[in-house]
Amino acid sequence: MPSIAILGCMWGDEAKAKIVDYLGSDADVVVRFQGGSNAGHTIVVDGKKYVFHTVPSGMLYEDTKCIIGAGVVIDPTRLVEEIRSLEAAGVDFGDRLYIDERAGVVLPLHQYLDKRNEEILNKGKIGTTGRGIGPTYADLTARLGIRLGDLAHKRYLKQRLKDLYLYHGVEITTADLNEQCDLLKENWEVLKKHCSNTLPILHEAKAQDLKIIFEGAQGSLLDRTWGSFPYVTSSNTMVDAIGTGSGFSARNVDEVIGIFKSYATRVGEGPFPTEIHGALADQIRKQGNEFGSTTGRPRRIGYFDAVMAAYTAKLNTLDGIALTLLDVLSGVEDIKICVGYEYKGKLLNTPPSHVLDLEKVKPAYLSFEGWEEDITGVRHKDDLPKNARLYLEAVEDLTEVPVRIVSVGKERHETFMC
Ligand code: IMP
Repeated sequence: MPSIAILGCMWGDEAKAKIVDYLGSDADVVVRFQGGSNAGHTIVVDGKKYVFHTVPSGMLYEDTKCIIGAGVVIDPTRLVEEIRSLEAAGVDFGDRLYIDERAGVVLPLHQYLDKRNEEILNKGKIGTTGRGIGPTYADLTARLGIRLGDLAHKRYLKQRLKDLYLYHGVEITTADLNEQCDLLKENWEVLKKHCSNTLPILHEAKAQDLKIIFEGAQGSLLDRTWGSFPYVTSSNTMVDAIGTGSGFSARNVDEVIGIFKSYATRVGEGPFPTEIHGALADQIRKQGNEFGSTTGRPRRIGYFDAVMAAYTAKLNTLDGIALTLLDVLSGVEDIKICVGYEYKGKLLNTPPSHVLDLEKVKPAYLSFEGWEEDITGVRHKDDLPKNARLYLEAVEDLTEVPVRIVSVGKERHETFMC
């Protein structure tokens, strides 16, 4: 398929980058279209770990062009650091990284507001990554935000920066303002060679039927409209965001692959109906190394939630599922899948939209017998232990989407197609 969307379909951290990497060896273009450095995409190749935050993970393939689309928000200092550290790890950027000049800019002001809002307004309740993502998107929506292309216009940039501080009622001295402008200029010197109007690259790629991968960040349940609002991120994270975030209409995407973990995780606050605590949660957290790659926070753990999965499968019109971290469930005796929510005497098969209702639902479970075997060496569905196969088939039945890819380990090669 020439154009493929790879989307997290739960609360993020579904191992999207691993699947982008797996399908991306012959990709001509890999595109990020939303989110920012709140993402942490990890790829392990021959024991070496690469972590991407804003750079598309297709950068590992030398002939692949990578685009950071207009819908992404960029922290220039962090992006320059990320480029430098990937270069130090042997990634050759050449002239393959393209950043759209329309992309939003995350400023120190946004990180300050993000932290302040968490501490004061929300009493720390959303549990953001603290990367300034929400305030940056809010300012762009208010038409006051700064876009990457503004960095080329010194005087204009300074005035907009001043206006932004004024708008937020945050004081800034002339000296600090000058210092910020100088730092932005310094980063611009590194980034400007990558910055352009990226639309023609994508449209040309489509005209030539080249393989384009759209790499989602976060997950559908963190979508700012369809997720568990207000415990969400500030971008739209679903397939439709590809059009607004890259200029490549979602109508032209040929295949949509949704990534689901074989269990569920969530970082930050917010309702999580299938959350579990205690020994099993600890075992899964340890085996799955469930600690945030951006913040290092331990992730909350839960059973696979087929109510949420069927919901996001429909929202994204999934053609296939990539089921990841199946190996982590080896050794779990009794595995459960949530198949409905009990609420006010009814069994719901779709999540309620209000957070106060979602917080009160009680999951109804189906139980599955586990398997003991280490499955990291399995490369064909038929070679999975019978119970693992039954579990995988239950995911297909409950979401009504075929599982196309299974990931059974951290390494690039520990993956197979069904
Ligand atoms: P923000 O995106 O930093 O504003 O955080 C909003 C919510 O989204 C918080 O609960 C974060 O933990 C969560 N979040 C943001 N980015 C990611 C991600 O890449 N993976 C998982 N959760 C994320």
